Amino acid sequence: MPVARSSAALAGALSPHRAAGRAVGLVPTMGALHAGHRSLIERAAAECSCVVVTIFVNPLQFGDPDDIERYPRTLAADLAVCEDAGAAVVFVPTVREMYPAWPEPPANTVRVGPLGRPWEGESRPGHFDGVATVVAKLFAMVGCCRAYFGEKDFQQLAVVRQMVADLSFPVEVVGCPIVREPGGLALSSRNGRLSPSERSAAAVLSRALGSAREAVAGGERRPGEVSALMTALVGGEAQVSLDYATVVDADDLTVPPVIQPGRALRLLIAAQVGAVRLIDNCEAAVPAEGRDRAFPAGTCGASTRTRRVEAPVVPGPGTTVPSPAVGTR
Ligand code: PAJ
Repeated sequence: MPVARSSAALAGALSPHRAAGRAVGLVPTMGALHAGHRSLIERAAAECSCVVVTIFVNPLQFGDPDDIERYPRTLAADLAVCEDAGAAVVFVPTVREMYPAWPEPPANTVRVGPLGRPWEGESRPGHFDGVATVVAKLFAMVGCCRAYFGEKDFQQLAVVRQMVADLSFPVEVVGCPIVREPGGLALSSRNGRLSPSERSAAAVLSRALGSAREAVAGGERRPGEVSALMTALVGGEAQVSLDYATVVDADDLTVPPVIQPGRALRLLIAAQVGAVRLIDNCEAAVPAEGRDRAFPAGTCGASTRTRRVEAPVVPGPGTTVPSPAVGTR
């Protein structure tokens, strides 16, 4: 499996695959690969005959220089995962290769539109511009392809889809389900920085999403009540400090005034757990008219708002892995 360090080497490694007319699948990552990343590579390998994985800790998307310093780097293990999961080529560029004038950013960058402003965009100014810029460069270097992104970073997926549509990249974006630990915690390279007690406290995020999803399925129509339910559940964990918990329209990421049947919805949550910021999300669906008698519109019972969930509710769609996360994010 060739490991390309420059865009010229990447083009060289790809050319026999292009000449053979193979479909190219691209999986952009920042390394510290875990089973969530692996699921993307395996999906790409199942659907494309040549898979390119990129590993690049993109300085343009980090606001805090300490955060980039602390970012785990596990290249030897990552290359083994790539090979085992079916990658044909791995691209591991240097910062200078991607941004020749670094620490000066490139003169031209992508500035994302309204999808990048709320939620993570508000907490991490400039983050999505940095993500979109590096992803645009990777798309330009790899060329026509299918590109695989995790729903774990739901807003990132939406931003990338919008960029592809607006800038006409010859790329088909494929969203892939979230991979979770058995207790529900979404796999993340940051999870390894949680202490054992923080790690078990962090599972409250997926429980809160699961309870909110049940409330919506049970007929709750008020976005404020859905948020309040998640806020109350997370508030029960002293080690978890909530940033936001919301229900949004899955297409434009805005909070609807009222939850309507027939709209694709997403529950989004973000919190600080010790020194680590975690995000998670899941789909929510309103039942077809007439199937929500348990909680008529606007009357989600108080017991639902405050009920403690005994067993972890794993929001779906998603996949669990049999053992705790490999990797450290
Ligand atoms: P990174 O955090 O390494 O994630 C790479 C890809 O793996 C993203 O598409 C992310 O959504 C997906 N992923 C992470 N955890 C996952 C999980 N538990 N289940 C499923 N997919 C998961 O996201 C980035 O890197 C960067 O922003 C990048 C797109 C590479 C641009 O620098």
